[in-house]
Amino acid sequence: MFHPYFLVASILLNYFIGLLATTASNNGGFTVELIHPDSPKSPFYNANKTFTGRLNKYYPNALQSQVTALNAQHLMKVSIGTPPVDIYGIVDTGSDIVWTQCVPCDGCYKQINPMFDPQKSSTYSDISCQSGQCRLIDSATCSPQNLCSYTYVYADASIAQGVLAKEKVTMISTSGQTVSLDIAFGCGHNDTGTFNDHEMGLIGLGGGSVSFVSQIGSIFGSNRFSQCLLPYDTDPSIASKISFGNDSEVVGDGVVSTPLVAKEDKTPYFVTLEGISVGDTYVPFNSSRKLSKGNVLLDSGTPQTIMPFDFYDPLAAEVQRQIAMDPIKDDPDVGTQLCYRTKTNLDGPILTVHFEGANVQLMPLHTFVPLKDGVYCFAMQESDGDVGIYGNYAQANFLIGFDRETMKVSFKPTNCTKQ
Ligand SMILES: *[C@@H]1O[C@H](CO)[C@@H](O)[C@H](O)[C@H]1NC(C)=O
Ligand SMILES: *[C@@H]1O[C@H](CO)[C@@H](O)[C@H](O)[C@H]1NC(C)=O
Ligand SMILES: *[C@@H]1O[C@H](CO)[C@@H](O)[C@H](O)[C@H]1NC(C)=O
Ligand SMILES: *[C@@H]1O[C@H](CO)[C@@H](O)[C@H](O)[C@H]1NC(C)=O
Ligand SMILES: *[C@@H]1O[C@H](CO)[C@@H](O)[C@H](O)[C@H]1NC(C)=O
Repeated sequence: MFHPYFLVASILLNYFIGLLATTASNNGGFTVELIHPDSPKSPFYNANKTFTGRLNKYYPNALQSQVTALNAQHLMKVSIGTPPVDIYGIVDTGSDIVWTQCVPCDGCYKQINPMFDPQKSSTYSDISCQSGQCRLIDSATCSPQNLCSYTYVYADASIAQGVLAKEKVTMISTSGQTVSLDIAFGCGHNDTGTFNDHEMGLIGLGGGSVSFVSQIGSIFGSNRFSQCLLPYDTDPSIASKISFGNDSEVVGDGVVSTPLVAKEDKTPYFVTLEGISVGDTYVPFNSSRKLSKGNVLLDSGTPQTIMPFDFYDPLAAEVQRQIAMDPIKDDPDVGTQLCYRTKTNLDGPILTVHFEGANVQLMPLHTFVPLKDGVYCFAMQESDGDVGIYGNYAQANFLIGFDRETMKVSFKPTNCTKQ
Protein backbone atom coordinates (compact mmCIF):
# COMPACT_ATOMS: atom_id res chain seq x y z
CA MET A 1 0.00 0.00 0.00
CA PHE A 2 1.38 3.30 -0.91
CA HIS A 3 -0.23 6.63 -0.47
CA PRO A 4 -2.43 8.00 -1.84
CA TYR A 5 -4.12 4.95 -3.23
CA PHE A 6 -6.54 2.34 -2.15
CA LEU A 7 -6.28 -0.87 -0.34
CA VAL A 8 -8.70 -3.42 -1.61
CA ALA A 9 -9.51 -5.98 0.95
CA SER A 10 -8.83 -9.63 0.58
CA ILE A 11 -10.02 -12.82 2.06
CA LEU A 12 -7.99 -15.08 4.20
CA LEU A 13 -7.61 -18.59 3.12
CA ASN A 14 -7.37 -20.73 6.07
CA TYR A 15 -5.73 -23.30 3.98
CA PHE A 16 -3.33 -25.45 5.79
CA ILE A 17 -0.22 -26.54 4.11
CA GLY A 18 2.34 -28.53 5.92
CA LEU A 19 5.93 -28.90 5.23
CA LEU A 20 8.08 -27.96 2.36
CA ALA A 21 10.31 -30.37 0.63
CA THR A 22 12.82 -29.59 -2.01
CA THR A 23 14.03 -31.55 -4.94
CA ALA A 24 16.85 -30.69 -7.21
CA SER A 25 15.89 -30.33 -10.84
CA ASN A 26 18.12 -31.34 -13.70
CA ASN A 27 19.03 -27.82 -14.74
CA GLY A 28 20.70 -27.20 -11.42
CA GLY A 29 17.83 -25.06 -10.18
CA PHE A 30 15.42 -26.18 -7.56
CA THR A 31 11.78 -26.86 -7.43
CA VAL A 32 9.83 -26.71 -4.26
CA GLU A 33 6.53 -28.34 -3.64
CA LEU A 34 4.06 -27.93 -0.88
CA ILE A 35 3.17 -31.21 0.68
CA HIS A 36 1.10 -32.25 3.63
CA PRO A 37 3.15 -33.11 6.73
CA ASP A 38 1.74 -36.62 6.91
CA SER A 39 2.60 -37.24 3.32
CA PRO A 40 4.93 -40.15 2.71
CA LYS A 41 6.67 -37.75 0.34
CA SER A 42 7.94 -35.74 3.26
CA PRO A 43 11.45 -37.09 3.51
CA PHE A 44 12.88 -34.98 6.27
CA TYR A 45 10.48 -35.35 9.12
CA ASN A 46 9.76 -38.18 11.51
CA ALA A 47 6.55 -38.75 13.42
CA ASN A 48 7.61 -36.09 15.92
CA LYS A 49 7.78 -33.52 13.14
CA THR A 50 11.41 -32.87 13.81
CA PHE A 51 13.93 -32.39 11.11
CA THR A 52 15.91 -35.52 10.39
CA GLY A 53 17.45 -34.76 7.02
CA ARG A 54 21.02 -33.79 6.46
CA LEU A 55 21.97 -30.53 4.87
CA ASN A 56 23.91 -30.94 1.73
CA LYS A 57 24.81 -28.89 -1.27
CA TYR A 58 21.68 -29.84 -3.12
CA TYR A 59 19.48 -27.99 -0.71
CA PRO A 60 19.54 -24.29 -1.18
CA ASN A 61 19.34 -21.94 1.67
CA ALA A 62 16.34 -19.70 1.62
CA LEU A 63 13.41 -19.25 3.95
CA GLN A 64 9.96 -19.73 2.59
CA SER A 65 6.38 -19.00 3.36
CA GLN A 66 3.11 -19.55 1.59
CA VAL A 67 1.09 -16.85 -0.11
CA THR A 68 -2.55 -17.06 -1.07
CA ALA A 69 -4.71 -14.72 -3.12
CA LEU A 70 -8.27 -13.55 -3.13
CA ASN A 71 -10.09 -10.32 -3.88
CA ALA A 72 -7.03 -8.50 -5.05
CA GLN A 73 -4.78 -8.96 -2.05
CA HIS A 74 -2.18 -11.58 -1.25
CA LEU A 75 -1.78 -12.98 2.22
CA MET A 76 1.43 -14.35 3.61
CA LYS A 77 1.51 -16.81 6.46
CA VAL A 78 3.89 -16.02 9.29
CA SER A 79 4.22 -18.09 12.45
CA ILE A 80 5.02 -15.99 15.49
CA GLY A 81 5.42 -16.58 19.20
CA THR A 82 6.09 -19.58 21.42
CA PRO A 83 4.18 -21.75 20.88
CA PRO A 84 3.91 -20.47 17.30
CA VAL A 85 0.64 -19.00 16.08
CA ASP A 86 -0.09 -18.51 12.39
CA ILE A 87 -0.96 -15.05 11.23
CA TYR A 88 -1.97 -14.07 7.70
CA GLY A 89 -0.95 -10.58 6.69
CA ILE A 90 -1.21 -8.58 3.47
CA VAL A 91 1.95 -8.90 1.38
CA ASP A 92 3.00 -5.30 0.91
CA THR A 93 6.15 -4.21 -0.88
CA GLY A 94 4.93 -0.62 -0.53
CA SER A 95 5.43 -0.31 3.24
CA ASP A 96 7.78 -1.50 5.94
CA ILE A 97 6.30 -2.33 9.27
CA VAL A 98 5.03 -5.82 10.09
CA TRP A 99 2.00 -5.79 12.35
CA THR A 100 -0.79 -8.01 13.55
CA GLN A 101 -3.75 -7.29 15.79
CA CYS A 102 -3.12 -8.19 19.43
CA VAL A 103 -5.36 -8.59 22.44
CA PRO A 104 -6.41 -6.57 24.32
CA CYS A 105 -7.84 -4.60 21.47
CA ASP A 106 -10.46 -1.96 22.03
CA GLY A 107 -10.05 -0.32 18.66
CA CYS A 108 -9.43 -3.25 16.35
CA TYR A 109 -11.42 -4.27 13.32
CA LYS A 110 -13.14 -7.61 13.55
CA GLN A 111 -11.13 -10.62 12.46
CA ILE A 112 -12.23 -14.21 12.06
CA ASN A 113 -9.17 -15.92 13.49
CA PRO A 114 -8.22 -15.31 17.11
CA MET A 115 -6.00 -12.30 17.65
CA PHE A 116 -2.45 -12.78 18.78
CA ASP A 117 -2.21 -12.84 22.56
CA PRO A 118 1.20 -11.68 23.85
CA GLN A 119 0.43 -13.14 27.27
CA LYS A 120 0.25 -16.62 25.80
CA SER A 121 3.70 -16.41 24.24
CA SER A 122 6.85 -17.01 26.27
CA THR A 123 9.06 -15.18 23.76
CA TYR A 124 7.14 -11.90 23.50
CA SER A 125 8.85 -8.82 24.85
CA ASP A 126 8.10 -5.12 24.63
CA ILE A 127 10.50 -2.76 22.95
CA SER A 128 11.22 0.40 24.89
CA CYS A 129 10.73 3.75 23.25
CA GLN A 130 14.36 4.59 23.98
CA SER A 131 15.62 1.68 21.89
CA GLY A 132 17.32 2.09 18.54
CA GLN A 133 14.65 -0.02 16.86
CA CYS A 134 11.94 2.33 18.04
CA ARG A 135 13.78 5.33 16.67
CA LEU A 136 13.74 3.72 13.21
CA ILE A 137 10.00 4.34 13.04
CA ASP A 138 9.20 7.92 12.14
CA SER A 139 5.83 7.98 13.81
CA ALA A 140 7.01 6.39 17.05
CA THR A 141 6.29 8.06 20.36
CA CYS A 142 6.69 7.06 24.01
CA SER A 143 3.62 5.63 25.65
CA PRO A 144 2.94 6.40 29.33
CA GLN A 145 4.46 2.96 30.05
CA ASN A 146 7.56 3.92 28.06
CA LEU A 147 6.62 1.55 25.24
CA CYS A 148 7.28 2.29 21.58
CA SER A 149 3.93 3.44 20.15
CA TYR A 150 3.62 3.67 16.41
CA THR A 151 0.93 5.06 14.13
CA TYR A 152 0.93 4.08 10.49
CA VAL A 153 -1.46 5.88 8.17
CA TYR A 154 -2.17 4.30 4.81
CA ALA A 155 -3.39 5.88 1.62
CA ASP A 156 -7.06 5.17 2.04
CA ALA A 157 -6.99 6.62 5.56
CA SER A 158 -6.68 3.19 7.13
CA ILE A 159 -4.76 3.55 10.38
CA ALA A 160 -2.67 0.97 12.21
CA GLN A 161 -1.75 1.85 15.77
CA GLY A 162 0.02 -0.24 18.36
CA VAL A 163 3.24 -0.92 20.19
CA LEU A 164 6.46 -2.27 18.79
CA ALA A 165 7.51 -5.58 20.32
CA LYS A 166 10.01 -8.34 19.82
CA GLU A 167 8.92 -11.84 18.99
CA LYS A 168 10.16 -15.09 17.54
CA VAL A 169 9.22 -15.86 13.95
CA THR A 170 9.36 -19.48 12.83
CA MET A 171 10.00 -20.30 9.20
CA ILE A 172 11.01 -23.32 7.19
CA SER A 173 14.06 -23.20 5.01
CA THR A 174 14.27 -24.77 1.59
CA SER A 175 16.69 -27.23 3.15
CA GLY A 176 13.84 -28.36 5.39
CA GLN A 177 15.01 -26.87 8.63
CA THR A 178 12.85 -24.96 11.03
CA VAL A 179 14.46 -21.59 11.55
CA SER A 180 13.60 -19.20 14.37
CA LEU A 181 14.42 -15.52 14.12
CA ASP A 182 13.68 -12.60 16.40
CA ILE A 183 11.97 -9.70 14.71
CA ALA A 184 10.46 -6.40 15.75
CA PHE A 185 6.78 -6.27 14.90
CA GLY A 186 3.81 -4.11 15.67
CA CYS A 187 1.28 -5.43 18.15
CA GLY A 188 -1.82 -3.66 16.88
CA HIS A 189 -4.22 -2.26 19.44
CA ASN A 190 -6.15 0.24 17.37
CA ASP A 191 -6.59 -0.52 13.67
CA THR A 192 -9.29 0.88 11.45
CA GLY A 193 -10.00 1.27 7.78
CA THR A 194 -10.54 -0.98 4.84
CA PHE A 195 -9.10 -4.13 6.37
CA ASN A 196 -11.44 -7.09 6.25
CA ASP A 197 -11.97 -9.78 8.82
CA HIS A 198 -9.75 -12.28 7.03
CA GLU A 199 -6.69 -10.08 7.22
CA MET A 200 -4.78 -10.29 10.47
CA GLY A 201 -2.36 -7.49 9.73
CA LEU A 202 0.21 -6.57 7.19
CA ILE A 203 3.67 -7.80 6.25
CA GLY A 204 5.75 -4.85 5.10
CA LEU A 205 8.32 -6.00 2.55
CA GLY A 206 9.71 -2.61 1.58
CA GLY A 207 13.33 -1.58 1.63
CA GLY A 208 13.28 0.25 4.98
CA SER A 209 15.12 -1.19 7.94
CA VAL A 210 12.07 -2.35 9.94
CA SER A 211 10.55 -4.31 7.05
CA PHE A 212 10.23 -8.07 7.26
CA VAL A 213 12.73 -8.60 4.46
CA SER A 214 15.31 -6.21 5.91
CA GLN A 215 15.05 -7.78 9.35
CA ILE A 216 15.22 -11.34 8.04
CA GLY A 217 18.01 -10.33 5.69
CA SER A 218 20.21 -8.91 8.39
CA ILE A 219 20.04 -12.22 10.25
CA PHE A 220 19.87 -14.59 7.35
CA GLY A 221 22.55 -12.94 5.32
CA SER A 222 21.01 -11.30 2.28
CA ASN A 223 18.65 -8.52 1.45
CA ARG A 224 16.62 -10.20 -1.24
CA PHE A 225 13.38 -12.08 -1.69
CA SER A 226 11.21 -13.43 -4.47
CA GLN A 227 7.47 -13.81 -4.78
CA CYS A 228 5.09 -15.48 -7.18
CA LEU A 229 1.66 -13.89 -6.89
CA LEU A 230 -1.36 -15.89 -8.01
CA PRO A 231 -3.76 -14.48 -10.62
CA TYR A 232 -7.06 -13.05 -9.36
CA ASP A 233 -9.08 -16.00 -10.59
CA THR A 234 -7.07 -18.68 -8.79
CA ASP A 235 -8.82 -21.37 -6.77
CA PRO A 236 -8.57 -20.18 -3.15
CA SER A 237 -7.23 -23.52 -1.99
CA ILE A 238 -4.02 -23.01 -3.96
CA ALA A 239 -0.99 -21.37 -2.37
CA SER A 240 2.21 -20.12 -3.91
CA LYS A 241 5.48 -19.21 -2.29
CA ILE A 242 7.58 -16.33 -1.17
CA SER A 243 11.27 -16.94 -0.48
CA PHE A 244 13.85 -14.95 1.44
CA GLY A 245 17.61 -15.12 1.44
CA ASN A 246 20.55 -15.75 -0.86
CA ASP A 247 18.94 -18.58 -2.76
CA SER A 248 15.75 -16.73 -3.51
CA GLU A 249 17.56 -15.17 -6.46
CA VAL A 250 15.54 -15.43 -9.67
CA VAL A 251 17.60 -17.16 -12.33
CA GLY A 252 17.16 -19.34 -15.41
CA ASP A 253 15.48 -19.17 -18.79
CA GLY A 254 13.35 -16.18 -19.58
CA VAL A 255 14.58 -13.97 -16.74
CA VAL A 256 14.76 -10.25 -17.45
CA SER A 257 16.07 -7.67 -15.00
CA THR A 258 15.79 -3.95 -14.47
CA PRO A 259 17.84 -1.75 -12.11
CA LEU A 260 16.39 -0.67 -8.79
CA VAL A 261 16.68 3.08 -8.40
CA ALA A 262 17.81 4.26 -4.98
CA LYS A 263 16.05 7.36 -3.71
CA GLU A 264 15.90 9.12 -0.41
CA ASP A 265 12.81 7.16 0.57
CA LYS A 266 14.20 3.66 1.14
CA THR A 267 10.81 1.93 1.37
CA PRO A 268 9.52 1.68 -2.21
CA TYR A 269 11.11 -0.40 -4.94
CA PHE A 270 11.58 2.20 -7.67
CA VAL A 271 12.28 1.15 -11.24
CA THR A 272 12.30 3.02 -14.53
CA LEU A 273 9.43 2.57 -16.97
CA GLU A 274 10.23 3.76 -20.50
CA GLY A 275 6.88 3.02 -22.02
CA ILE A 276 4.29 0.33 -22.77
CA SER A 277 3.52 -1.20 -26.15
CA VAL A 278 -0.09 -2.05 -26.86
CA GLY A 279 0.25 -4.75 -29.46
CA ASP A 280 2.83 -3.16 -31.78
CA THR A 281 2.08 0.44 -30.86
CA TYR A 282 4.58 2.02 -28.50
CA VAL A 283 3.30 4.54 -25.97
CA PRO A 284 6.18 6.39 -24.27
CA PHE A 285 5.95 7.19 -20.55
CA ASN A 286 6.72 10.76 -21.42
CA SER A 287 7.10 11.99 -24.96
CA SER A 288 7.82 15.57 -23.99
CA ARG A 289 10.69 15.17 -21.57
CA LYS A 290 13.74 13.14 -20.73
CA LEU A 291 12.67 10.21 -18.61
CA SER A 292 13.36 10.48 -14.90
CA LYS A 293 14.85 7.36 -13.32
CA GLY A 294 12.71 5.57 -10.80
CA ASN A 295 9.40 6.87 -12.17
CA VAL A 296 7.45 3.78 -11.08
CA LEU A 297 7.34 1.71 -7.91
CA LEU A 298 6.34 -1.92 -7.56
CA ASP A 299 3.63 -2.37 -4.97
CA SER A 300 2.12 -5.75 -4.14
CA GLY A 301 -0.34 -4.07 -1.75
CA THR A 302 -2.04 -2.07 -4.50
CA PRO A 303 -4.13 -4.14 -6.93
CA GLN A 304 -4.46 -1.75 -9.86
CA THR A 305 -1.61 -0.22 -11.78
CA ILE A 306 -1.80 3.54 -11.42
CA MET A 307 -0.10 5.87 -13.88
CA PRO A 308 0.21 9.63 -14.29
CA PHE A 309 -2.67 10.83 -16.45
CA ASP A 310 -0.50 12.14 -19.28
CA PHE A 311 0.76 8.59 -19.77
CA TYR A 312 -2.44 6.78 -18.83
CA ASP A 313 -4.64 8.71 -21.23
CA PRO A 314 -2.82 7.81 -24.49
CA LEU A 315 -2.26 4.28 -23.19
CA ALA A 316 -5.93 3.66 -22.42
CA ALA A 317 -6.92 5.27 -25.73
CA GLU A 318 -4.65 2.85 -27.60
CA VAL A 319 -6.00 -0.14 -25.67
CA GLN A 320 -9.53 0.98 -26.52
CA ARG A 321 -8.61 1.48 -30.18
CA GLN A 322 -7.41 -2.12 -30.39
CA ILE A 323 -10.55 -3.67 -28.89
CA ALA A 324 -13.41 -4.16 -31.32
CA MET A 325 -16.17 -3.76 -28.71
CA ASP A 326 -17.64 -0.51 -27.41
CA PRO A 327 -16.70 0.34 -23.83
CA ILE A 328 -19.46 0.75 -21.23
CA LYS A 329 -20.58 4.35 -20.93
CA ASP A 330 -23.83 4.30 -18.96
CA ASP A 331 -23.04 2.43 -15.76
CA PRO A 332 -22.48 4.31 -12.49
CA ASP A 333 -20.40 1.41 -11.09
CA VAL A 334 -18.04 1.80 -14.02
CA GLY A 335 -17.68 5.57 -13.87
CA THR A 336 -14.71 6.72 -15.91
CA GLN A 337 -13.02 3.29 -16.00
CA LEU A 338 -12.45 1.54 -19.30
CA CYS A 339 -14.81 -1.45 -19.07
CA TYR A 340 -16.46 -3.91 -21.40
CA ARG A 341 -19.50 -6.10 -21.24
CA THR A 342 -18.27 -9.66 -21.66
CA LYS A 343 -18.92 -12.98 -19.97
CA THR A 344 -15.31 -14.11 -20.00
CA ASN A 345 -12.12 -12.12 -20.14
CA LEU A 346 -11.41 -10.11 -23.26
CA ASP A 347 -9.37 -11.24 -26.14
CA GLY A 348 -7.50 -7.97 -25.68
CA PRO A 349 -4.08 -6.93 -26.95
CA ILE A 350 -0.85 -8.01 -25.30
CA LEU A 351 0.84 -5.17 -23.46
CA THR A 352 4.63 -5.12 -23.35
CA VAL A 353 5.93 -3.18 -20.40
CA HIS A 354 9.31 -1.68 -21.22
CA PHE A 355 11.21 -1.32 -17.99
CA GLU A 356 14.81 -0.16 -18.40
CA GLY A 357 16.52 -3.27 -19.79
CA ALA A 358 13.54 -5.57 -19.27
CA ASN A 359 10.46 -6.19 -21.39
CA VAL A 360 7.59 -7.80 -19.54
CA GLN A 361 4.53 -9.09 -21.40
CA LEU A 362 1.10 -8.69 -19.90
CA MET A 363 -1.78 -10.89 -21.01
CA PRO A 364 -5.49 -10.02 -20.68
CA LEU A 365 -5.33 -11.88 -17.33
CA HIS A 366 -3.10 -9.06 -16.07
CA THR A 367 -4.73 -6.14 -17.81
CA PHE A 368 -8.46 -6.83 -17.46
CA VAL A 369 -10.18 -7.80 -14.24
CA PRO A 370 -13.84 -8.42 -13.48
CA LEU A 371 -15.65 -5.52 -11.83
CA LYS A 372 -18.89 -7.43 -11.49
CA ASP A 373 -20.71 -10.20 -13.28
CA GLY A 374 -20.23 -9.80 -17.03
CA VAL A 375 -18.10 -6.65 -16.77
CA TYR A 376 -14.33 -6.58 -17.23
CA CYS A 377 -12.29 -3.42 -16.70
CA PHE A 378 -8.84 -2.26 -17.64
CA ALA A 379 -6.74 -2.91 -14.51
CA MET A 380 -5.09 0.49 -14.65
CA GLN A 381 -6.08 3.89 -13.35
CA GLU A 382 -4.79 7.40 -13.68
CA SER A 383 -3.54 9.73 -11.01
CA ASP A 384 -2.18 13.23 -10.93
CA GLY A 385 1.05 12.21 -9.25
CA ASP A 386 4.16 11.80 -11.39
CA VAL A 387 5.29 8.47 -9.96
CA GLY A 388 3.43 5.43 -11.24
CA ILE A 389 2.51 2.35 -9.22
CA TYR A 390 2.88 -1.08 -10.76
CA GLY A 391 0.19 -3.03 -8.94
CA ASN A 392 -0.33 -6.66 -8.07
CA TYR A 393 -2.61 -7.65 -10.96
CA ALA A 394 0.28 -6.96 -13.31
CA GLN A 395 2.67 -8.93 -11.09
CA ALA A 396 0.70 -12.19 -11.12
CA ASN A 397 2.27 -15.23 -12.76
CA PHE A 398 5.77 -13.80 -12.63
CA LEU A 399 8.40 -14.99 -10.24
CA ILE A 400 9.66 -11.55 -9.22
CA GLY A 401 12.94 -11.14 -7.39
CA PHE A 402 13.53 -7.98 -5.37
CA ASP A 403 17.25 -7.78 -4.81
CA ARG A 404 18.91 -5.03 -2.81
CA GLU A 405 22.24 -6.84 -2.99
CA THR A 406 22.54 -6.43 -6.75
CA MET A 407 20.05 -3.52 -6.90
CA LYS A 408 17.77 -5.08 -9.46
CA VAL A 409 14.32 -6.50 -9.91
CA SER A 410 13.98 -9.67 -12.00
CA PHE A 411 10.92 -11.07 -13.70
CA LYS A 412 10.48 -14.64 -14.81
CA PRO A 413 7.19 -15.69 -16.44
CA THR A 414 5.95 -18.52 -14.22
CA ASN A 415 2.68 -20.32 -13.67
CA CYS A 416 2.48 -19.47 -9.97
CA THR A 417 -0.22 -22.08 -9.35
CA LYS A 418 2.38 -24.71 -10.19
CA GLN A 419 5.31 -23.08 -8.49
C1 LIG B 1 9.96 -38.78 19.26
O1 LIG B 1 10.39 -38.13 20.44
C2 LIG B 1 10.50 -39.00 21.58
C3 LIG B 1 10.82 -38.12 22.78
O2 LIG B 1 11.79 -37.13 22.47
C4 LIG B 1 11.57 -40.03 21.28
O3 LIG B 1 11.68 -40.90 22.37
C5 LIG B 1 11.18 -40.82 20.04
O4 LIG B 1 12.21 -41.73 19.69
C6 LIG B 1 10.94 -39.87 18.86
N1 LIG B 1 10.41 -40.62 17.71
C7 LIG B 1 11.03 -40.64 16.55
C8 LIG B 1 10.34 -41.41 15.47
O5 LIG B 1 12.10 -40.07 16.33
C1 LIG C 1 -7.85 4.81 18.05
O1 LIG C 1 -7.48 5.67 17.00
C2 LIG C 1 -8.41 6.71 16.76
C3 LIG C 1 -7.93 7.49 15.57
O2 LIG C 1 -7.36 6.69 14.66
C4 LIG C 1 -8.50 7.60 17.99
O3 LIG C 1 -9.48 8.59 17.77
C5 LIG C 1 -8.88 6.76 19.19
O4 LIG C 1 -8.82 7.55 20.35
C6 LIG C 1 -7.93 5.58 19.36
N1 LIG C 1 -8.41 4.70 20.39
C7 LIG C 1 -7.60 4.20 21.33
C8 LIG C 1 -8.25 3.26 22.31
O5 LIG C 1 -6.43 4.48 21.41
C1 LIG D 1 24.60 -15.01 1.75
O1 LIG D 1 25.59 -14.45 0.90
C2 LIG D 1 26.53 -13.65 1.57
C3 LIG D 1 27.43 -12.98 0.53
O2 LIG D 1 27.74 -13.88 -0.50
C4 LIG D 1 27.31 -14.50 2.56
O3 LIG D 1 28.23 -13.70 3.27
C5 LIG D 1 26.34 -15.12 3.55
O4 LIG D 1 27.01 -16.00 4.41
C6 LIG D 1 25.25 -15.87 2.82
N1 LIG D 1 24.25 -16.29 3.80
C7 LIG D 1 23.65 -17.48 3.78
C8 LIG D 1 22.68 -17.74 4.87
O5 LIG D 1 23.86 -18.32 2.91
C1 LIG E 1 6.28 14.79 -19.00
O1 LIG E 1 7.08 15.92 -19.15
C2 LIG E 1 6.38 17.13 -18.98
C3 LIG E 1 7.31 18.26 -19.34
O2 LIG E 1 8.48 18.23 -18.60
C4 LIG E 1 5.87 17.20 -17.55
O3 LIG E 1 5.14 18.39 -17.36
C5 LIG E 1 4.98 15.99 -17.25
O4 LIG E 1 4.61 15.98 -15.91
C6 LIG E 1 5.72 14.72 -17.59
N1 LIG E 1 4.81 13.58 -17.48
C7 LIG E 1 5.09 12.48 -16.81
C8 LIG E 1 4.07 11.39 -16.89
O5 LIG E 1 6.13 12.33 -16.18
C1 LIG F 1 -1.36 -22.77 -14.83
O1 LIG F 1 -1.48 -24.12 -14.50
C2 LIG F 1 -2.80 -24.51 -14.16
C3 LIG F 1 -2.78 -25.93 -13.64
O2 LIG F 1 -2.17 -26.78 -14.57
C4 LIG F 1 -3.70 -24.33 -15.38
O3 LIG F 1 -5.04 -24.67 -15.06
C5 LIG F 1 -3.64 -22.86 -15.79
O4 LIG F 1 -4.40 -22.67 -16.97
C6 LIG F 1 -2.22 -22.43 -16.04
N1 LIG F 1 -2.22 -20.98 -16.24
C7 LIG F 1 -1.65 -20.40 -17.29
C8 LIG F 1 -1.75 -18.92 -17.36
O5 LIG F 1 -1.08 -21.03 -18.16
